[in-house]
Amino acid sequence: MNPYLSRGLWWIGAVTSVIIALISYRYFVPSIPTPTFVGGNAMAHPWLWVHAGFGATSLILGPWQFLPRLRARWPRVHRWIGRGYVVSVIVGGCAGLLLASGTTAGPIARAGFSLLAIVSVGLAANGWRLAMSGRYAEHREWMVRSFAVIFGAVLLRAYLPIAQGLFHIPFMPAYRAIAWLAWVPNLIVAELYLRGAFRPRRPAPAAA
Ligand code: HEM
Repeated sequence: MNPYLSRGLWWIGAVTSVIIALISYRYFVPSIPTPTFVGGNAMAHPWLWVHAGFGATSLILGPWQFLPRLRARWPRVHRWIGRGYVVSVIVGGCAGLLLASGTTAGPIARAGFSLLAIVSVGLAANGWRLAMSGRYAEHREWMVRSFAVIFGAVLLRAYLPIAQGLFHIPFMPAYRAIAWLAWVPNLIVAELYLRGAFRPRRPAPAAA
């Protein structure tokens, strides 16, 4: 991938992740009321707070792990941020699975969020296992997949207003579709990236 494009994408990803994470910490400000839609989730107490806290932390920690300079100069920092990221994804994902069972949005959203929870915990846990066994190239690949899925939390919050404002789709059908669309395409794009689909093609050698 063109280095300017990849740097630009990193910046957009990092800035939007941090913004959504900071907005999500609002659940810990007692004066800000919980929206009735999410507050109605049968598992909201206490899992919404566990989920929002750890989920937001994973979004804040994730982007730095993709900076090659940080990995090369401060490997211990990379390791500690990585541990924090994996723990946050696992705890946030397990709480997300409990929340999925209590959603008021019906079985399509429940299935989308449940699968997202299982996939996100599996990807992060496997990425960690590979780092522990020194298989760093594979570790990097699984962490790319992991963050692609976690980034769904950012896209969900971008797609909802777009679906409603631009395409006039009512909230509930949009929400059900986005429970899938916020993360499945990301995983496909991550897979294409890892298989070199976005690598600039070398010109074919001239025939003799
Ligand atoms: C591991 C993948 C994730 C799963 C399975 C998941 C699942 C869910 C579910 C089921 C709900 C309740 C919605 C309802 O009742 O319909 C929810 C809400 C929420 N999630 Fe996640 N989520 C994930 C990742 C994240 C991440 C990374 C963040 C970080 C910002 C996050 C932040 C929130 C917040 C703040 C809410 C409350 C609703 C809102 O204010 O928008 N989630 N999530």
